[in-house]
Amino acid sequence: MNKSQKSMIALLGVLLVFFGFVIIRIGFAKPASTVKIAKIPAGEYDPAVWGKFYPLEYESYKKNATMALSPTGYGGSMKVQKSEQMPEINTNFKGMPFSVDYTEDRGHVYAMEDIKETKRIGPKSPGACITCKTPYLEKFYQESGWGYTKIPLTQLMDQVPSHGSISCANCHDPETMDLRVINPAFIEAMDRKGVDVSKASRQDMRSYVCGQCHAEYFFEPNTVRVVFPWDKGMKAGDMYAYYAEKPGGFVQDWQHPDSKTAMLKTQHPDFETWSTGTHGKAGVACADCHMPYMRQDGQKYSSHLMTSPLTNLDAACGTCHTQGSAWLMDQVKTTQDYTFEVLHTAGQNVAHAHEAIKKASEVPAVNQIELANARELVRKAQWYWDFVAAENSMGFHNPDQSLNTAAQASEFARQAIESANRAAGINLF
Ligand code: HEC
Ligand code: HEC
Ligand code: HEC
Ligand code: HEC
Repeated sequence: MNKSQKSMIALLGVLLVFFGFVIIRIGFAKPASTVKIAKIPAGEYDPAVWGKFYPLEYESYKKNATMALSPTGYGGSMKVQKSEQMPEINTNFKGMPFSVDYTEDRGHVYAMEDIKETKRIGPKSPGACITCKTPYLEKFYQESGWGYTKIPLTQLMDQVPSHGSISCANCHDPETMDLRVINPAFIEAMDRKGVDVSKASRQDMRSYVCGQCHAEYFFEPNTVRVVFPWDKGMKAGDMYAYYAEKPGGFVQDWQHPDSKTAMLKTQHPDFETWSTGTHGKAGVACADCHMPYMRQDGQKYSSHLMTSPLTNLDAACGTCHTQGSAWLMDQVKTTQDYTFEVLHTAGQNVAHAHEAIKKASEVPAVNQIELANARELVRKAQWYWDFVAAENSMGFHNPDQSLNTAAQASEFARQAIESANRAAGINLF
């Protein structure tokens, strides 16, 4: 090899390294972003520390402490008892803590405070309850795996400092700021549905980060693991069928003291209801409506005030809808009013069914087979009613399905009353 050949090879080598580097930069570059990534150490759960590097997001996150009523009269972030609007709640949840204390949800910064204060929590409550309240979940799961759910809740709460309510680390990888899910129950349930959350698209993650908490779940008996009952589908009927198979030995949340029925409690199926609705199916993410883009000093950022989009309709819906905020507000209000009417009636019918079954069971020669049938029907009716009542949007996330589910609840309640009448041999209702 002569001298010029050697320098040619050296030059080629340099060029190869240079262009290789350029290609790698282009190929792996993230979507254009105005955000400079600061490497926050893993295990940092204090939002104020994250806020030093991401002040716009942090300032909007802090606004989650504001409290307001929703302009439509449903939802909102005031801590009001839900039973004021729907007194049937007190009958339908008799014998379990939701009849004593069932308040409207409010901002993420209050999650730890509210779980400490709620009358639904007692010394026997399991650590599993902490799952959706704090980023310290990551630490507890790293230390004990699913074992954390068996540790008494009060013991885990003592390990969460005052900054420990839901925040940045629940949804972001501290080093890359990529979106992430830390609730293992969500990851496992999606895995059973054939979805690998670690490979999800950015747009899917913009809903998954919310779905990890805004979803229906139950605690598996003995292990106390948190499980999402999605194996048969995301609708009320699918989950009812799933629970009918007594998954992991799970039979009931509680027994209703009047009808002596093994009952189920639905927990906020927001993700499920959205996923089967118009927006969910069109790929419109939770963050599209609940975290609209804002602008400040020429910088674009996602609002981290996660509240009713009605407080900011133009930003929340205006990117896709050109009808104007008055039309949009009217659409939401109409959907919610219709849903509330059917739901309220359904809830009252369920309450009557509990009463009818109680009366039937007091009849000496009651037909036990009909009585058992009536109990099965009131269990089902209440599950369908609660599926809409416990969902947080009063029907908006999926208007026609919510109406359908509430209407079916009424019908099952009517059948339960008829069955109770047959069991008693007289018309009780
Ligand atoms: C198309 C826009 C849109 C999408 C997408 C959407 N929401 Fe909503 N959401 C709304 C509207 C509108 C309301 C009703 C607000 C009200 O009543 O003030 C609402 C209400 C809520 C509430 C109750 C708020 C309150 O004031 O109590 C929660 C919680 C919620 N949504 C969570 C979610 C989650 C989680 C997802 C994704 C799985 C999602 N939303 C997807 C528009 C949307
Ligand atoms: C409940 C989930 C959630 C929490 C909690 C959360 N974020 Fe985000 N964050 C998101 C989502 C969703 C996006 C949009 C990401 C995208 O579109 O790729 C985002 C985007 C961002 C971005 C990228 C720029 C932008 O504004 O779109 C930064 C930076 C950020 N968040 C910082 C924070 C900080 C700091 C905190 C805590 C104070 C925080 N986030 C808490 C869900 C969350
Ligand atoms: C770690 C669990 C968790 C995650 C992640 C989470 N939430 Fe929540 N969210 C909650 C809890 C718990 C509450 C109720 C807090 C309370 O009432 O003290 C709540 C309340 C809300 C409310 C009611 C606030 C109000 O002003 O009425 C909205 C809206 C909401 N979340 C939307 C979202 C959206 C959108 C996402 C994803 C971007 C999300 N949440 C992610 C657990 C979570
Ligand atoms: C990212 C885009 C996007 C955003 C943001 C969005 N929508 Fe939509 N919306 C759609 C699409 C897509 C449809 C399906 C029908 C269509 O193609 O027009 C739809 C349909 C609707 C419908 C008729 C169907 C139904 O479910 O009742 C209403 C009403 C509606 N949107 C209201 C809202 C409101 C209110 C907001 C803000 C809180 C909002 N949308 C935010 C894209 C969006």
